[in-house]
Amino acid sequence: MEDISYKCNFVVDKSKCIKCGKCKNVCSGMVIEYDKQGFPYIKPFERFGWRGCWRCEHCLAVCPVGAISIFNKKPENSLPPPDKNLGEQMERLVKFRRSCRRFLDKNVEPEIIDKILSALENAPTGGNAQNVEYTVIDDKERVKQIWNVAYKKMDELAREHIYTHSFSDFYYKKMKESEKTVRKNDLLFCGAPHLFIAHEKCVGKWAEDSKNNCNIATAYFDLLANSFGLGTVIMSYSSEVLNELVPEAREMLNIPKDHFTGLIVGFGYPEIKYARGTQKNRKAKIHRYRKE
Ligand SMILES: Cc1cc2nc3c(=O)[nH]c(=O)nc-3n(C[C@H](O)[C@H](O)[C@H](O)COP(=O)(O)O)c2cc1C
Repeated sequence: MEDISYKCNFVVDKSKCIKCGKCKNVCSGMVIEYDKQGFPYIKPFERFGWRGCWRCEHCLAVCPVGAISIFNKKPENSLPPPDKNLGEQMERLVKFRRSCRRFLDKNVEPEIIDKILSALENAPTGGNAQNVEYTVIDDKERVKQIWNVAYKKMDELAREHIYTHSFSDFYYKKMKESEKTVRKNDLLFCGAPHLFIAHEKCVGKWAEDSKNNCNIATAYFDLLANSFGLGTVIMSYSSEVLNELVPEAREMLNIPKDHFTGLIVGFGYPEIKYARGTQKNRKAKIHRYRKE
């Protein structure tokens, strides 16, 4: 057996370690053991994933005294836990966040996009596989290039009554109407200066996980972007257009054919500012199991 545990670069600062055992108790790959003196080490393993280390970094994250580094990541470079009132802030964010269909015609600063993408790396993935990929168009001129190809063909096909699977004469007409107000002259991307698409190769028995990874990344991206003051719109229609009507536009984005794509998220600075949250009420649809 070829032991590849050394690839973890698991290092314990013995002057700090208090031998509390937390690292072993959170190790999803169950590869942490104690040596004769009670210090943790990583047992030999042949493969990352279910047969070895999951690369989850829980050991680094849980250590109360910051004694563990792994994959050359040092505990002092990790962020501290969020403030206590985060729950209330999140509640406000979720209740206040609205789909944005009118954007300012300007690029978001690359540092903000990078910050969001960096946080997004922590979105959960099945088995911590972390295979989900992101395609990000971070320059509005490039969105326009895709738009020029996709919009023209979509509109031509509509004249022949050819639509994506969910569309029809009726829906297309409605969308056309919405261009005048809601969608700022762009029924395809709502004039968003940037696009985000999560995608992942879908194979074998883990294919469903791959799709879910994309959807979860999409939802995390949406909330993160809004928390940074951006507007977002999650769009199934434009995703359908690229997948079903204009594969050449999808090709321009270099998304491999065997990748499942999550919905397209348009994002940028919102043109419209909302003054308050909405008051949606879905209580009637929350089902609780109660023992009679
Ligand atoms: C699966 C899904 C698909 C969506 N597709 C579109 C779309 O194609 N175009 C669009 O303008 N909005 C789309 N949306 C946004 C919804 O219309 C929006 O979330 C809903 O109307 C509620 O509004 P809110 O997000 O402002 O609360 C989609 C949202 C989801 C979750």
